[in-house]
Amino acid sequence: MSGTANGSITLTVEGSNKATRLPLLHGSIGPAVADIRKLYGDLGVFTYDPGYGATASCESRITYIDGDEGVLLYRGYPIEQLAEHSTFLEVAHLLLNGELPNRAESQSFERGILRHTMLHEQIRSFYNGFRRDAHPMAVLCGVVGALSAFYHDSLDINDPEHRRISAFRLIAKMPTIAAWAYKYSIGQPFMYPRNDLGYAENFLHMMNGVPTESSYVNPVLSRAMDRILILHADHEQNASTSTVRLAGSTGANPFACIAAGIASLWGPAHGGANEAVLKMLGEIGHIDRIPDFIARVKDKNSNVRLMGFGHRVYKNYDPRAKIMERTCHEVLAELGIKDDPLLDLAMELERVALSDEYFISKKLYPNVDFYSGIILKAMGFPTHMFTVLFAVARTVGWISQWKEMIEDPLQRIGRPRQLYIGPTQRDFVPMEQRG
Ligand code: ACO
Repeated sequence: MSGTANGSITLTVEGSNKATRLPLLHGSIGPAVADIRKLYGDLGVFTYDPGYGATASCESRITYIDGDEGVLLYRGYPIEQLAEHSTFLEVAHLLLNGELPNRAESQSFERGILRHTMLHEQIRSFYNGFRRDAHPMAVLCGVVGALSAFYHDSLDINDPEHRRISAFRLIAKMPTIAAWAYKYSIGQPFMYPRNDLGYAENFLHMMNGVPTESSYVNPVLSRAMDRILILHADHEQNASTSTVRLAGSTGANPFACIAAGIASLWGPAHGGANEAVLKMLGEIGHIDRIPDFIARVKDKNSNVRLMGFGHRVYKNYDPRAKIMERTCHEVLAELGIKDDPLLDLAMELERVALSDEYFISKKLYPNVDFYSGIILKAMGFPTHMFTVLFAVARTVGWISQWKEMIEDPLQRIGRPRQLYIGPTQRDFVPMEQRG
């Protein structure tokens, strides 16, 4: 079922007799959208919306956010319930296929994913081409892009079975690629995946294990990791997801599209924020310096932002941030960390910001990244791996959104227009006549 049309907006061009009626389309929840597809034909004008703050780029059945109420639903299920009761692979099934799996479906989905965790042995050679100090996001981007050179048997995007296998391969191999990027950076041998372990458990095994010792993964930490993956799995049409959709709209293969998504996620305004939060906490250094820092954030000329705060859509508490904070306390307790100066600093920073008129009036609240860095650091992840972890989780959302787009009969190449403000047509001037 598509959005239902009910009502319309009539637009007239001032000073002319041109008018058009824009149908209003209603989804299952959320604000209606004005269908502007006939606008240019009827009035000869485009819409102008830099940053797409008022533009719905597609129909989707996957994720719903109510930014004013702080609600996040995956296929209708509240994120709080999924984080509490579900597992990452169950959520992956939900996002990809629309429903939570029954027991048999769950077993078969899990077996399917876990069967694809190994990388082609030739992919190992790619790592050697990188400097040891390469940022792991650079490695991830390169290696994921290279996957399309390995799986010629599943690149026909019009074949549902090819789409299914590519999705499985991407979800399954991403932890292996990510863990190997880490191992390469510290000069340790790559750990091969173990298919008898759960998804998060296997990831921690490949990150922290060494071939000389039998690996033990703490179940509390692996549950926390699973929850972190659930919280990051999808977030409707954010920058990286829109990048994946735009790349995919040209017919590019899914591995290339996910590599584009990884590149887009890397920026500090998006997935790079978790890394930036820790850097910021390190720079503040002590609770006594919070007022100074907040004053700099409020100074328009400083260009300093409170990282981990604010969101394009949430104008209320990001529901993922609350779960993240709880998980943070659980992880620190399990690790026997009684007093973590970074956590104390973050909690005080949050308290100060939430009671400051600047943040209140702009509706700036903590987002998912505010606490995630502290948990990951406590779990032994180096800062430059934080965004990589986000990418591992978001691969499920990206590939689900890509699949939905390819299966959408309305799908066309994404091709925005522009408001041109450059020079009007002029004649070429030979070099000797230029000033
Ligand atoms: N610290 C201080 N001021 C902020 C912050 C912040 N973190 N975020 C927004 N503002 C202010 C802006 O200065 C602006 O003020 P103005 O109206 O006086 O000019 C106002 O709030 C609106 O900000 P915009 O940048 O227009 O909001 P936008 O929706 O474009 O940006 C973004 C959203 C990029 C997330 C922004 O809030 C930000 O930079 N936050 C810090 C980085 C971060 O945590 N990113 C993670 C996002 S979640 C994710 O990707 C997983």
